Amino acid sequence: MTAPLLDVRDLRTEFRRNDQVVRAVDGLSYQIQPGEAIAIVGESGSGKSVSVRSLLRLLPAHARITSGNVLFEGRDLLRLPESTLRRMRGSQIAFVFQDAMTAFNPTMTIGKQLTEHLLWHHLTDQAGARQRAIEAMGEVGLDRPEVRMRQYPFQLSGGMRQRAMIAMALVSQPRLLIADEPTTALDVTLQRQILDILKAKKRAGMAIVLITHDLGVARYFCDRAIVMYAGKAMEQAPIANLLETPRHPYTRGLLGSSLEIGMGERRLRPIPGNPPNLAFLPPGCPFAERCPLAEDRCRIEPQVLSPIAQDHNVACWKATEGAALHA
Ligand SMILES: Nc1ncnc2c1ncn2[C@@H]1O[C@H](COP(=O)(O)OP(=O)(O)OP(=O)(O)O)[C@@H](O)[C@H]1O
Ligand code: SF4
Ligand SMILES: [Mg+2]
Repeated sequence: MTAPLLDVRDLRTEFRRNDQVVRAVDGLSYQIQPGEAIAIVGESGSGKSVSVRSLLRLLPAHARITSGNVLFEGRDLLRLPESTLRRMRGSQIAFVFQDAMTAFNPTMTIGKQLTEHLLWHHLTDQAGARQRAIEAMGEVGLDRPEVRMRQYPFQLSGGMRQRAMIAMALVSQPRLLIADEPTTALDVTLQRQILDILKAKKRAGMAIVLITHDLGVARYFCDRAIVMYAGKAMEQAPIANLLETPRHPYTRGLLGSSLEIGMGERRLRPIPGNPPNLAFLPPGCPFAERCPLAEDRCRIEPQVLSPIAQDHNVACWKATEGAALHA
């Protein structure tokens, strides 16, 4: 097997305030090959955003990565000097956030921002930067890219800004794209168009980590998925397995009993109860308070992600021991 492009090992990120330690990411591991897309799903507050921000050390001052490795092409991003990492952000590894407005400087034209980005990263010269910027804007379906180059962010509609933001992420031809709910605010047609653009990039070898609440999007776009809860992976599997034969009670709860697969319709279903306080995690399974199958053992024994089939891992002893989860 070829070495993965990204190899995340036992990543742990905490927030400290006064005497409290909030374990936002608690031992996350996964790998991605070039051309592969992985979805990270889970309820609000489960640690999805903090986990991807940790990869590039884009965290608030009171956050601390306490352990783990983030190997990108074999180099540990957690141990690189900040100056080296800054060079990698936005060039080899690009980020797309949900809010298109915050990605741009309102006082600079879109074209200037795209070309400056390339020049700052020493990826090309002035003429090459302009040409690549126009090309990237065309790739994301912006009409008349030369005109758009001269416009300011406020002169673009919301949908156009979102496309321009994707162009900004793609302009440097990154090897890895991290997208945190990039299409959540968009209508279904635009969402589909943007996913198709990213799909073409994926076919060309770009790897993608996609955070989404929409399992239809995950199915349409991703090869594998990680289901997060309380900072941990509860289940990891190829996307079809996860949707068709979910094994963790939390995943089952999210999916609900009737599974409609399409685009843009199936959000994660709310599960009764609330996630645990991340500053006071129980010793056993973090889902025990909400799990319909919980037993005493669950509240005592820590649950470890364990294989139940090839490439399918679950952090629930009942699933791994083959107990009657199908009941
Ligand atoms: N700036 C912060 N300061 C303190 N704690 C934080 C901060 N940001 C996140 N957290 C903690 O980390 C946990 C994970 O947050 P994160 O933003 O990763 O959740 P998420 O899964 O991305 O949720 P959502 O779906 O709402 O975006 C939160 O529940 C919260 O306890
Ligand atoms: S370990 Fe127990 S509480 Fe946790 S998901 Fe499995 S059955 Fe439910
Ligand atoms: Mg988030």
